[in-house]
Amino acid sequence: MTNGVAELFKRVSLGVYVVGVTDGHRKSAFTAAWVTQVSFKPLMLAVSVNPHSSTFPLLESSQTFSVNVLAEEQIELARHFGTPGLPDKLAGIDWHSGSSGCPLLRQALAWFECEVTGIYPAGDHLLVVGHVTGGHLQNRDVLPLTYRDTGNMDGAERFYPASLEA
Ligand SMILES: Cc1cc2nc3c(=O)[nH]c(=O)nc-3n(C[C@H](O)[C@H](O)[C@H](O)COP(=O)(O)O)c2cc1C
Repeated sequence: MTNGVAELFKRVSLGVYVVGVTDGHRKSAFTAAWVTQVSFKPLMLAVSVNPHSSTFPLLESSQTFSVNVLAEEQIELARHFGTPGLPDKLAGIDWHSGSSGCPLLRQALAWFECEVTGIYPAGDHLLVVGHVTGGHLQNRDVLPLTYRDTGNMDGAERFYPASLEA
């Protein structure tokens, strides 16, 4: 990593997730690292989403999403679901529909299902906040993948300024 500001921001510790979406008919999923818990009561998660991604309209139309937690050995799943332009990202993946219809990955170490409670502008992203309606810990014995482990897989380095003063 050659961009110091990108390297600095990788010290904000985050996991790596596959966010599942559906519009009721089509289903898809994308890798997201900018995910965090935001409330105890009710239980809520937030995901920062690029509104120009091809999957965002599905999330927006159903107002539901799933969050699948990737394990440390699942970096290739992060790459797969982080690749734009794939016609059917779920082909060849072992998944099932949750009660919301959003895809849940059988390989994920845990999953959550969420109902959107608000979508808020956040610079060039949208902060999608969801009430957690379901969840399951599928494997308690493996460590989660971290965003830092993925290096520049998301191509984010080019979006950071060369310095904080720039
Ligand atoms: C490690 C990693 C982390 C990512 N984090 C996010 C994120 O938090 N939010 C987001 O909108 N996109 C994120 N992306 C980018 C999306 O996964 C990527 O743009 C994806 O192609 C979007 O799917 P779509 O093109 O099928 O809509 C990340 C990608 C990778 C590889």
